[in-house]
Amino acid sequence: MRIDIITVLPQLLQGPFNHSIINRTVKAGLVEITIHDLREYGLGKHRQVDDYAYGGEAGMVLMIEPIFNIINKLKSEREYDAIIYTTPDAETWNQKTANHFSTLKNIIILCGHYKGIDQRVRDNLITHEFSIGDYVLTGGELAAAVLVDSIVRLLPGAISDEQSALSDSFQDDLLAPPVYTRPAEFNNWQVPEVLLSGNTAKIDKWKEEKAIERTKQIRPDLL
Ligand code: ADE
Repeated sequence: MRIDIITVLPQLLQGPFNHSIINRTVKAGLVEITIHDLREYGLGKHRQVDDYAYGGEAGMVLMIEPIFNIINKLKSEREYDAIIYTTPDAETWNQKTANHFSTLKNIIILCGHYKGIDQRVRDNLITHEFSIGDYVLTGGELAAAVLVDSIVRLLPGAISDEQSALSDSFQDDLLAPPVYTRPAEFNNWQVPEVLLSGNTAKIDKWKEEKAIERTKQIRPDLL
């Protein structure tokens, strides 16, 4: 899989991808993540990428031309299955969308910024738009990092124990059951007896019950 991210703040995206599972997945050759600085496609000697909004709205808007140029350049190099724009005024990203996008080959993610982007980009160049939740971030970079993280960890081979991605919260519309590790007792707080029993059928049943109980309590809307 290849993910191209277009941003005006490339520095903001270096950190999240240089650690842990994502970094290992990149090194293992399962995914290639390329960050593009939109400013390199900016106009004039000041490399302008944004301008005042028509109609007097406050705040700067990303211009169409630099975005058009970089997307066209990328599209001339390979075919893309999706061109995603991260923005709060969109459908919410969830585990199902992460599952779907993890099966694609090449995707572009355009990070929103300031007061948004020229609507003509959204109308003509973008194929999908996603928000990561009902709150407003200063830009779409952190949202793009969330999308990439949730996609990449699903790639076959990204997580050593494949079972562990399948048993995530939300994979079956349930929150994950609680987990424990040694010691079995600490400060008089016990690990549930059933988990120490070695009886896998009983343990699986307990896990399922706990998952349902937790979901009912915390996220009844999922049931
Ligand atoms: N950009 C700003 N806020 C955002 C959000 N909640 N989701 C996606 N992109 C954003």
